[in-house]
Amino acid sequence: MFFYSFLKSLLFLFDPEIAHRITINYLKFARFKKPKLYKVLQSEVFGLNFQNPIGIAAGFDKNGEVAHNLINLGFGFSEVGTVTPKPQPGNPRPRVFRLKDDRAIINRLGFNSVGFSEVKTKLEKIGDNIIGVNIGANKNSKDFSEDYIKGIKFFSTLASYITINISSPNTPGLRNLEVLENLDVLLDKINNLEREDLLIKIPILLKISPDLEADNLKYLCEKVLSSKIDGLIISNTTISRDSISTDTLEKGGLSGKPIFDISTKQLRMAYKYTNGKIPLIGVGGVDSAEKAYEKIKNGASLIQLYTGLVYNGPNLIKDINEDLSSLIERDGYSNISEAVGAEVN
Ligand SMILES: Cc1cc2nc3c(=O)[nH]c(=O)nc-3n(C[C@H](O)[C@H](O)[C@H](O)COP(=O)(O)O)c2cc1C
Repeated sequence: MFFYSFLKSLLFLFDPEIAHRITINYLKFARFKKPKLYKVLQSEVFGLNFQNPIGIAAGFDKNGEVAHNLINLGFGFSEVGTVTPKPQPGNPRPRVFRLKDDRAIINRLGFNSVGFSEVKTKLEKIGDNIIGVNIGANKNSKDFSEDYIKGIKFFSTLASYITINISSPNTPGLRNLEVLENLDVLLDKINNLEREDLLIKIPILLKISPDLEADNLKYLCEKVLSSKIDGLIISNTTISRDSISTDTLEKGGLSGKPIFDISTKQLRMAYKYTNGKIPLIGVGGVDSAEKAYEKIKNGASLIQLYTGLVYNGPNLIKDINEDLSSLIERDGYSNISEAVGAEVN
């Protein structure tokens, strides 16, 4: 921890995107001690066997450069992306901002991506690791939902699962896919893939925003239950600034500690609306075992994090897994799956 405090003070001297590039390059070559396994944390979700429930959230390894190494570091799974069909540069820099006092980040990267083909080449083989690919649409795309269909077809023989990211606040118009007719069109196209005889054997997840109003969330959950979607990731970043103390006018999606409550509330409502029938991945503001456990008790079968890693360093993963296994055993559960949704009534 002390070592990371020192390293962090150095990394934080750089622009966040440069600091991130340094971290990715380090991860490419670093070797880690094999992480400890905890039987209580092992579970089967979406037909995949997870060694532990803590995954790296999308956005950290957008291009699939270090997905395997992150699992060696201790994550139970990695999510690569968001990847767009064609390469695109994203928004002009600066576009990532640290809010240190709030232990938060604002980003408006806008899907900077090397594109589907290059990510496929980088990932090569997934092997035994669980690596999901998070797909998006190109900014200048004429038909967003077609971009997602392309992505499902393109990665279905490689990825462990695919995430359809319709919740980035940084691609104008994208979030419209979360609601009403647009959602219907997208889900119909996904349902039709099966009819096209494209036997999709891998799970397909939908990543949603914490800003969806309760009515729309309810509608989305009902639609999802009668579709080929296997689970939800809750949530992406928020455009709200209600929970921060930093005075900032920067536009973009807010992540980290301040979004814990709003994303956990959204998770809890989605668990209710789906009656616990499909697995949910809880994301947003997780930086300790207690926070991870709270997500689990509010309906998450798995957890993802990103901003917590930036502020707490790589030991966070090992610490969360160790402390989480103790919390689960303390409460008399023999496996994490028994605690999922325990506090939702
Ligand atoms: C710099 C940055 C880039 C991100 N890029 C993506 C992305 O490309 N696709 C995506 O689905 N989510 C992206 N996210 C959102 C995260 O995956 C996650 O949903 C969100 O940050 C909340 O988790 P956290 O509070 O643990 O960071 C990004 C987050 C950050 C901080």
